[in-house]
Amino acid sequence: MPKAREITVSVIKADVGGYVGHATMHPELMNVAERHLLTAKKSNLLLDFHVTHCGDDLELIMTHRQGNESERIHKLAWDVFMAGTKKAQQLKLYGAGQDMLADSFSGNIKGLGPGCAEMTFIERKSEPIIVFMADKTSPGAYNLPIFRIFADPFNTAGLVIDPSMHGGFSFGVLDVLENSEVRLTCPEEMYDLLVFLGAPSRYMVHSVYRKDDGEIAATASTQRLNLIAGRYVGKDDPVLIVRTQSGFPAVGEALEGFAFPHLVEGWMRGSHHGPLMPVSCADANPTRFDGPPRVIAYGFQLNNGQLVGPVDFFGEPSFDYTRQRAMEVAEYMRRHGPFEPHRLPLSEMEYTTLPHVKAKLEGRFKKLPD
Ligand code: F6R
Ligand code: MG
Ligand code: MG
Repeated sequence: MPKAREITVSVIKADVGGYVGHATMHPELMNVAERHLLTAKKSNLLLDFHVTHCGDDLELIMTHRQGNESERIHKLAWDVFMAGTKKAQQLKLYGAGQDMLADSFSGNIKGLGPGCAEMTFIERKSEPIIVFMADKTSPGAYNLPIFRIFADPFNTAGLVIDPSMHGGFSFGVLDVLENSEVRLTCPEEMYDLLVFLGAPSRYMVHSVYRKDDGEIAATASTQRLNLIAGRYVGKDDPVLIVRTQSGFPAVGEALEGFAFPHLVEGWMRGSHHGPLMPVSCADANPTRFDGPPRVIAYGFQLNNGQLVGPVDFFGEPSFDYTRQRAMEVAEYMRRHGPFEPHRLPLSEMEYTTLPHVKAKLEGRFKKLPD
């Protein structure tokens, strides 16, 4: 259990049915989630909540005093997603329950399909946070912006200017293939860190801590559905929570980390690279070639656990230029059609037909002399 004054922010998300296809969210699913979470708030399990969506992903942003990985909170999210699945089935929405990999809840929602990012801390005098939510991509998509925000002085002036950030940050990095993790600190181990962060399909940042006092600064969902299930079952579209200001990156420094529309994996059939386009929630409806990949940023001021907000940051005109560049890159990448590097390498393709094609052509591949 957390200490008395601590609060926990949990962002738990799942795709339980798309509308139309995998494009966006039917309002009825959001209503189901609102109703469930309101009941949980009235019973004092939740301090507060906000329901939204990014593309076809239902996003539950919750505050409470139950700590990270609370069975009660995870069960609540599970129940919301099961009720959402039922509604999606009634409406014959597309891919109803697609991220729900287990038939029943068993203690912790991690590993059951939904994505989850949580952090527990003592709320500061003023506690501005940003929740980033993405669609048509995968957890490694945050590696580059996280590096920019917490380690790159060309992005974050506070690393140079603010004495309380000058000591730098440390990064918890997960190896999803080996299921191991390593903690690396910046600036000292920056080049080591980049060896791993630059390979985002295998290594992903799960948490960032302020080095001077170990305070949690950011945490991301690092579940990879395809690895969990051992086969492709849906996109593991990730979420990220970032604390900002007064010893953490400023709001504008956190948002600046997304000003460059870098290439991520997960576009069309989870099998293509495309630029990550920052948009408002209203524009988070991946359309062209089921994309390009989107990210939204919701800002909240916490007030004793109340989520005051959101401010839908990426709707702002100062991100128009990034969107324009994203679409130029999208167009360029699209012209490659089924060729790498638009298409992912075969080892990463989630709908790969390679085994079928190889089986069909068995015997026609002739071994050449050495
Ligand atoms: C889903 C996604 C989409 C689908 C595509 C094919 O998040 O990325 O691009 O992969 O629409 O979907 P299915 O196989 O369900 O027809
Ligand atoms: Mg979907
Ligand atoms: Mg999705």
